[in-house]
Amino acid sequence: MVNRGVRLFPAPASGLVLLCVLLGAVRSYALELNLRDSENATCLYAKWQMNFQIQYETTSKNYKNVTVSDRGIATYKGSTCGDGKNGPRIAVQFDSGFSWTVNFTKAMTTYSIDSISFSYNTSNTAVFPEAKDKGVITVYDTVKIGIPLNNIFRCSSLSTLESNDVVHQYWGILVQAFVQNGTVSTKEFLCEKDKTATTAPIIHTTAPAPTATPTPKGKPEVGAYYVRENGTCLLANMGLQLNITQDKAVSVININPNMTDFTGSCHPQTALLRLNSSNINYLDFVFAVKNENRFYLKEVNVSLILGNGSVLSFTNSNLSYWDAPLGSSYMCNKEQTVAVSGAFQINTFDLRVQPFNVMEGKYSTAQECSLDDDTILIPIIVGAGLSGLIIVIVIAYLIGRRKSHAGYQTL
Ligand SMILES: *[C@@H]1O[C@H](CO)[C@@H](O)[C@H](O)[C@H]1NC(C)=O
Ligand SMILES: *[C@@H]1O[C@H](CO)[C@@H](O)[C@H](O)[C@H]1NC(C)=O
Ligand SMILES: *[C@@H]1O[C@H](CO)[C@@H](O)[C@H](O)[C@H]1NC(C)=O
Ligand SMILES: *[C@@H]1O[C@H](CO)[C@@H](O)[C@H](O)[C@H]1NC(C)=O
Ligand SMILES: *[C@@H]1O[C@H](CO)[C@@H](O)[C@H](O)[C@H]1NC(C)=O
Ligand SMILES: *[C@@H]1O[C@H](CO)[C@@H](O)[C@H](O)[C@H]1NC(C)=O
Ligand SMILES: *[C@@H]1O[C@H](CO)[C@@H](O)[C@H](O)[C@H]1NC(C)=O
Ligand SMILES: *[C@@H]1O[C@H](CO)[C@@H](O)[C@H](O)[C@H]1NC(C)=O
Ligand SMILES: *[C@@H]1O[C@H](CO)[C@@H](O)[C@H](O)[C@H]1NC(C)=O
Ligand SMILES: *[C@@H]1O[C@H](CO)[C@@H](O)[C@H](O)[C@H]1NC(C)=O
Ligand SMILES: *[C@@H]1O[C@H](CO)[C@@H](O)[C@H](O)[C@H]1NC(C)=O
Ligand SMILES: *[C@@H]1O[C@H](CO)[C@@H](O)[C@H](O)[C@H]1NC(C)=O
Repeated sequence: MVNRGVRLFPAPASGLVLLCVLLGAVRSYALELNLRDSENATCLYAKWQMNFQIQYETTSKNYKNVTVSDRGIATYKGSTCGDGKNGPRIAVQFDSGFSWTVNFTKAMTTYSIDSISFSYNTSNTAVFPEAKDKGVITVYDTVKIGIPLNNIFRCSSLSTLESNDVVHQYWGILVQAFVQNGTVSTKEFLCEKDKTATTAPIIHTTAPAPTATPTPKGKPEVGAYYVRENGTCLLANMGLQLNITQDKAVSVININPNMTDFTGSCHPQTALLRLNSSNINYLDFVFAVKNENRFYLKEVNVSLILGNGSVLSFTNSNLSYWDAPLGSSYMCNKEQTVAVSGAFQINTFDLRVQPFNVMEGKYSTAQECSLDDDTILIPIIVGAGLSGLIIVIVIAYLIGRRKSHAGYQTL
């Protein structure tokens, strides 16, 4: 993620930082929305980035500034294509208690970004410590940017909007309302700053590079998941990293266990562990029993929510991973990959799982992957053994040769 230098203030709330880490997810951190009408045709497309600096009064009669950004998980509840009476609207909710909306209106040959409203809740003490007045504050601003119909508005440069106690910053904007025939226009209408700032690299680079691969991530945190029916019947400790390939762009998401819920079910022949979070509708691990004496990971079903609100699903019910005897657990500390499809794989770290026969909520003896993985290990051992033997033979031969030609070898 390129920091374009316009993000002047780092988000202070660690919650936001956490969200960012979690949702380095879908492409860049930009907000993106593709709204469809009742006939499933795109009526509005928008992609942009923003943050807000909010000044508030504290109980000690001082003023404080905090900066919040949209980074992380946003929902778009209330966004609409509009109808005869009302124009289209983008509504975004992010972090806890922030909401942002923008209205569009239409004239004969143009449409306008009409007005923006932004609400924040000063009762949220994590973001607004010691706020004197607690409650929801909403600020309105009239923008009135006119754009020719069937043009997409682009403003890569930073735009600032000041109102009362809030300074809004927007950049990387790409928006078209009243999209015709469901096709987003290729005709761009640039904002003044982008027109004049032609030397600024920002304009050329910001074509908000959808193919940008997120920066490599560290190892994911290890989560402790379990399924409890009468007692605990399934245990799984693992760090999970999702790898999604979409239009040749790779997104790598580390699952943050702190923000992930889990459920599941246990049956004699099959067991399910289901994870979900704000950007994962579900991630199902289905375990099965084979030959009445071993278990394995048979199936993975996943449904992900993309930044633009669309849903991406993958399923594979013909897997064969994490194979171990019933009554034991499967363990693998090194990184392993579960290939669900060509476009979706799960990297696991520090894995230990027991989907059946869990006694007293504890893992049974572990079957370790490196010991179990004879397909790789045996050739290595055999290979190492063989090459060792060859080296010994060669050395013995050379020594023998050297001895027999001792007089000859003056060097
Ligand atoms: C709308 O279109 C998208 C992509 O064109 C498609 O995936 C989706 O199933 C459609 N939805 C409906 C309700 O037709
Ligand atoms: C908060 O930011 C505003 C606008 O940048 C500035 O005028 C004000 O002095 C700042 N207040 C504090 C307490 O830093
Ligand atoms: C958007 O339009 C709706 C209905 O026309 C209105 O109630 C609302 O106040 C408007 N919001 C903004 C931010 O202009
Ligand atoms: C504002 O935040 C407080 C504390 O988090 C919460 O109790 C309250 O319901 C929120 N108000 C609204 C309108 O969301
Ligand atoms: C949309 O479709 C109509 C009828 O098919 C056509 O006349 C019009 O030019 C199209 N508009 C755009 C922007 O493609
Ligand atoms: C759980 O307990 C209920 C009764 O308390 C029993 O009917 C059920 O069979 C038990 N389930 C399992 C999986 O042991
Ligand atoms: C993600 O998947 C792609 C395509 O399969 C692969 O090239 C890339 O190395 C993977 N990255 C990680 C971190 O697993
Ligand atoms: C999750 O929570 C634990 C304990 O509350 C904390 O130690 C850990 O750093 C958190 N991890 C992340 C990724 O937030
Ligand atoms: C997981 O799903 C449940 C039920 O569908 C929902 O209540 C919960 O909020 C979700 N958890 C997260 C972290 O989104
Ligand atoms: C996973 O997906 C397959 C195919 O869509 C479906 O048959 C199966 O029931 C799903 N499994 C779960 C646990 O939802
Ligand atoms: C969301 O974005 C993805 C990738 O950019 C794209 O394939 C998908 O069609 C988009 N969804 C909608 C509803 O436009
Ligand atoms: C599942 O895998 C087996 C062996 O790899 C193969 O023979 C079978 O056709 C596969 N089934 C499906 C539904 O892909």
